Amino acid sequence: MSLKGKCCVVGVCGGIAAYKVVDVVSRLKKLDAEVDVIMTASAQEFVTALTFRSITHRPVITDMFGEPEEWDVRHISLAQKADLFLIAPATANIIGKLASGIADDMLSTTVMATKAPVLIVPAMNYNMYANPIVQQNIEKLKKLGYYFMEPDTGRMAEGTSGKGRLPEPPVIVEEVCAMLKPTRDLEGLSILVTAGPTREALDPVRYLSNHSSGKMGYAVSQAAVERGADVILVSGPVAIDKPMGVEYIQVTSADEMYDAVMKNFKDCDAVVMSAAVADYKAAEVSDLKIKKQGDDFSVQLVKNVDILKELGRIKEDKILAGFAAETDNLLENAAKKIKEKNLDIIVANDVTMEGAGFGTDTNIIKILRKDGSVTDFPLMSKLSAAHCILDEIVGIYKSK
Ligand code: CTP
Repeated sequence: MSLKGKCCVVGVCGGIAAYKVVDVVSRLKKLDAEVDVIMTASAQEFVTALTFRSITHRPVITDMFGEPEEWDVRHISLAQKADLFLIAPATANIIGKLASGIADDMLSTTVMATKAPVLIVPAMNYNMYANPIVQQNIEKLKKLGYYFMEPDTGRMAEGTSGKGRLPEPPVIVEEVCAMLKPTRDLEGLSILVTAGPTREALDPVRYLSNHSSGKMGYAVSQAAVERGADVILVSGPVAIDKPMGVEYIQVTSADEMYDAVMKNFKDCDAVVMSAAVADYKAAEVSDLKIKKQGDDFSVQLVKNVDILKELGRIKEDKILAGFAAETDNLLENAAKKIKEKNLDIIVANDVTMEGAGFGTDTNIIKILRKDGSVTDFPLMSKLSAAHCILDEIVGIYKSK
């Protein structure tokens, strides 16, 4: 799941559960949402603005009159730019204010000015939550279109048990994700993705391979599924969980990957070839374990099939995206590959740069197009990079 391009404004009120919302905000950030936090005065008694600022890398709004010349613009702009407003923990006070139309601080004012859906997550003492006035206010707000999550039942901070606990952060984030559904711009498209390394056997116990973790290709698959594509993921051996919702084909060698890709190529609209296919394999694979011999030892290697080049030969109107992970002459090498393999785009990255190497969760990519144009992207999560690659594919598909 990615919330790239989505803006969630989080209103934090004064309750002990405010500390859990730090985790909620952190999780939303990890999903690439843009998060702005507004804290009430009493929220700041429980958690500092600095905590949220450190996570969101954005100013936290704490004071209605702190910056008078900016205030008006900000409260309106936050209200307008929110795709979703989350209030957690929501106290009896904020629920009462919203139900009564009282706008006397930054949070109540901004919520009242927004047209975005508002998700309210109450957390308070269970007797307060059960209070008929609070319940009436909740019912009133529900009728007006506000969304609510039920508090959990369990042990409260004061030591007794009841219904009033803030739900756990992953549950809140799940609800936010469900409300901020990503765009389904790949609906109806079938995308074949390859990922991970290949392993080329030398004997029954040894192989040649590389450091590819598969993370980039898995991120592309996950992002494509979220955006509505039918995804076939052909994966070499990796140590990460397969994304939900893909048709998964596990392979080991380049030859197996070639077979799986060729079998599925005719029915797909686009191929994203992020696998690090071994260029060579052993000329002969020994049936028995090769025993230690003299001081020098050599293995005869022969070239593997270049899967992407083969696809480029038979591509017709399909979209082909390749990868070029380089250590030097990045653009020059990538430009050569786009031509040689007849690609629409190639995603180039310099694996020597910090944050762009194998196994990391981030990447720094450049997208080269066959017309020679290049777009540079900053350091971002592999999931965000995956969305940038898919944006490009959508653009090509639409222009056809
Ligand atoms: N590729 C492929 N089959 C191969 C080798 C590479 O399909 N046997 C694909 C990769 O999945 C990648 C692109 O081709 O999308 C470029 O791979 P890369 O290893 O960078 O380039 P090579 O053509 O192998 O050239 P070199 O290793 O000399 O850089």
